[in-house]
Order: sequence, then structure tokens, then C-alpha cells
Amino acid sequence: MSTSTPTAGLTAALDSTHLNGTEAQTEAGLFTSDLVSPTIAASLPDSYTLRSLRRSDYARGFLDCLRVLTTVGDITEAQWDERYTWMSTQGKGGYYLLVVDDGKRIVGTGALIVERKFIHNLGIVAHIEDIAVAKDQQGKKLGLKIIQALDFVAEKVGCYKSILDCSEANEGFYVKCGFKRAGLEMAHYY
Ligand code: ACO
Repeated sequence: MSTSTPTAGLTAALDSTHLNGTEAQTEAGLFTSDLVSPTIAASLPDSYTLRSLRRSDYARGFLDCLRVLTTVGDITEAQWDERYTWMSTQGKGGYYLLVVDDGKRIVGTGALIVERKFIHNLGIVAHIEDIAVAKDQQGKKLGLKIIQALDFVAEKVGCYKSILDCSEANEGFYVKCGFKRAGLEMAHYY
């Protein structure tokens, strides 16, 4: 079990991972590019980029990508800005949202939420959330690569395990990603 303090990725920096052609991508993301697995980034098809979420992804179809997962709602750009700003300031170090960009739009995403505990000697647990791959891109191993890239983040920031909730229909996918059934999900809706 690792109990190291997660310091990697806490400072905004310029993200230049897996640049698309000669275009220099200089916009800072939610976290630094040292947390983006170079192996997974390099395994993507040409023109596809693996990187942290950026403010400008509102216009690149990030929310549409999430619509394959569940209801998203009509989120205005101002509302997006407010949530993004919160994640990159007060929520800094807790929210790691990865995206796969095919050069035109966001075609895949996944989130890692980091929980700092008292138990297990100040253990740090990662919660994998909101995995989505655009319908026309499913079946190309993007989902698997997103999970592997989130595992890379989790290990780097010092988590001792990653956990997630999913439907029975998706169990096989997560088993392929190396997860195993553990426990039972309970919910209270408000
Ligand atoms: N059941 C069983 N096996 C599956 C499933 C499934 N539902 N989906 C994919 N697989 C298998 C694939 O066949 C593949 O197996 P192989 O290596 O033997 O060929 C392996 O898992 C990897 O599949 P990918 O191609 O990486 O899967 P994909 O890119 O299509 O992503 C995902 C899977 C994320 C479930 C996608 O279908 C999707 O976005 N679905 C809608 C949204 C959703 O349900 N998201 C997950 C919610 S749970 C959560 O967010 C914690």
C-alpha cells in the first residue's frame, strides 16, 4: 500500500502530449502531462490524442461524448466554466478527467476521483467514474486504454486501489480491464 502524498499534477502546466501534426497544443489542462501514460498515448491511432480535460473541450463535444453514458442536461458554457474552474482550483488534486481527441472532437473520456482517507494509514483511494466512448468509436479498445491510462494516474498519485460501480452489462468490460467483483453497491438518491 502506498501512502505517499500526491503532489504530481497539482500545478497547471502546458500539455503537449501526443501533438496532432505540427499544431502546438499550449492550453493548460486540469492536470499535468506527466500523468498521461506515454505508452497508452503512443498506442492510439494517428491523429488521436490522450490528454487531460481542457476548458476548451466544451466546444469539442466533451458533453456529447458523455451522453452515451447517461443524461447530461443542457449545460451552458458559463455553467461549464464555473465547474471547470472549481475542479482546477478548490478541487485541484482530486479530479483527473482524461479525454481522447480524434483530431476533430472528443471521442472518449474517463474520470478518476481521488479520495484521501484516515484509514489504512492515510490511504488514498481512486474512484473511476464516467467512462464513455462515442458510439461510432466503441469496440476499438479506446475504453480499455482509458481505464489503463486512469490506472497510470492512480498509481502515480499514490492510490493503493481503484474502485468503481457499474451495471451487470458492463461487468465483462471491466473484467477485461483487470477488475474483479468486490462488494455490493448501495444508493440513496436525494
Ligand atoms: N461486456 C463484455 N465485454 C465488453 C463490453 C461489455 N459491455 N464492452 C466491451 N467489452 C470487451 C471488448 O469486447 C474487448 O474485449 P477483447 O479485448 O476480448 O476484444 C474489451 O472489453 C475492451 O473493449 P473496448 O473496445 O476497449 O471497449 P469500448 O471502447 O467499446 O468501451 C465502454 C467500452 C466504455 C463500456 C463503451 O461501450 C461505452 O462507452 N458504453 C456506454 C457508456 C458506459 O456504459 N460506460 C461505462 C459506465 S460504468 C462507469 O463509468 C464506472
